Amino acid sequence: LLTWAEQRGVFVVEDDYDGEYRYDREPIGALQGLAPERVVYIGSASKILAPALRIGWVLSPACLIGDLTRAKLDADRGSPALDQLALAAFINSGHLDRHLRRTRLVYSRRRALLATALGTHLPKLPIRGVAAGLHLTLELPPGSDENTIVAEAGRRGLRVYGISVYRARPKIGPPALLLGYCRLSEKQIAEGAKALASVLESCQ
Ligand SMILES: Cc1ncc(COP(=O)(O)O)c(C=O)c1O
Repeated sequence: LLTWAEQRGVFVVEDDYDGEYRYDREPIGALQGLAPERVVYIGSASKILAPALRIGWVLSPACLIGDLTRAKLDADRGSPALDQLALAAFINSGHLDRHLRRTRLVYSRRRALLATALGTHLPKLPIRGVAAGLHLTLELPPGSDENTIVAEAGRRGLRVYGISVYRARPKIGPPALLLGYCRLSEKQIAEGAKALASVLESCQ
């Protein structure tokens, strides 16, 4: 990829928004470290702390810093300084590392519970994306209508998301649901998987 970008004189945007949560191996090193002048690296506090913070960061090739700074200023006059200072203090004091070590364990346990519960209640449906991040995807039987399933799940108190809205081209892959598990208790995960199986049965 880097050779390709170098030959064409283009930049690669590395959106590493949940790279800290990798469960099957050590987190993969950033591409940016291999070619700092070719890669624009983007990180975010949204997954590691809270989306409500609205703080992210960009490691940019030097030649783009001026344009990026101007674009940020035009967009919102800059992120809140006090929030950034608080985050910097949180990182420098070692709290973020401790938080990540703790949450990696908690989330990997919840992920395993959800994968097992889905395997029990919906054994025929493939699950993907369990190796990293804070959610996984559940492939639906061919011909399923994501919107109907999401609406029926909502009526029963389950908030799940159809995958189509996240695709660049909606009809490019099989219907699927996006299932987040990080904020759920172990009991909610077990009950949720069971309830989802009953939703799918009623929507067939
Ligand atoms: C592909 C992708 N990039 C970045 C982010 C982080 O976005 P933000 O920092 O604006 O919350 C997300 C959040 O889910 C995402 O899905």
